[in-house]
Amino acid sequence: MRVVKSVAAMQRLAKRWQRTGVRVGFVPTMGYLHAGHLSLVQRARRLVGKSGKVAVSIYVNPTQFGPKEDFSRYPRDFTRDAKLCRDAGVDVIFAPSNEDMYARNKEGQFSTYVTEEQLSRGMEGASRPTHFRGVTTVVAKLFNIVQPSVAVFGAKDYQQAAVVKRMVRDLNFPIKIEVAPIFRETDGLAMSSRNKYLAGDLRRQAVVLSRAIERVQAAVRENSRPLQSARLRADLKKFIEREPAARLDYVEFFDPQTLAPVTKVSRGVHIALAVFIGKTRLIDNRRL
Ligand code: PAJ
Repeated sequence: MRVVKSVAAMQRLAKRWQRTGVRVGFVPTMGYLHAGHLSLVQRARRLVGKSGKVAVSIYVNPTQFGPKEDFSRYPRDFTRDAKLCRDAGVDVIFAPSNEDMYARNKEGQFSTYVTEEQLSRGMEGASRPTHFRGVTTVVAKLFNIVQPSVAVFGAKDYQQAAVVKRMVRDLNFPIKIEVAPIFRETDGLAMSSRNKYLAGDLRRQAVVLSRAIERVQAAVRENSRPLQSARLRADLKKFIEREPAARLDYVEFFDPQTLAPVTKVSRGVHIALAVFIGKTRLIDNRRL
């Protein structure tokens, strides 16, 4: 396994692969890897086969964090990540520096961003106004650097995957986007690098996100008629905030393709929610 730290070196390697017709599967991450990330790596390997290459990027992207968010304390452990990648059969880790990604040189500072202007408006985009601009910008950069034929994203960040798919279509990136299912802990908590923040009783309270989704799922199954999103939302807020450290940020019911909010909730509608457990903001989602 190679570790490539500069943009120029990664681009040279990518060009060589392109020239020789090697298929490249790419998994962009911010590191502090867990089994959810590794399931994406496995999917990438299946997609490109033994003769293909699997690339993982490990980069905590500053532009997708708001000024009051956890950029500086986001968990990092490159040695551990590298070992996990090697054991998972990754061919190359791309781990660039901020200086290289967002260069400021004598010609001036970084000043070009990619924005998706429809799917990125609601939910995470409403709660974190500059988040998706940072995501689409860094993912576009990573695609231009790694030049994969296929990239794998997780359904854990459902809106992110939809926004990236739209960007790829709108800007004609010659890349197929695959979305892999959410990987969960045995009690239902969706795996996340941020789960590291959950000490002691907070970890127990965090199960309320997946429990809330199960609660709606059961209600939808029991009712043949659609349920009102406003009533479900009020019920879920109460249910979630019974946990002393939990505060609901949003819960949304929406069309899984267009992400447009719906007021009538029945099978096939998608639910997504964000909840603060203490200071830690967690998200989860599911198709009902
Ligand atoms: P990160 O949060 O590290 O996630 C990297 C990828 O792993 C994303 O596609 C995410 O959806 C997926 N993932 C995370 N937890 C998962 C789980 N429990 N099950 C399945 N997949 C999971 O998402 C980002 O980084 C960044 O925004 C990035 C795309 C790398 C751009 O900076």
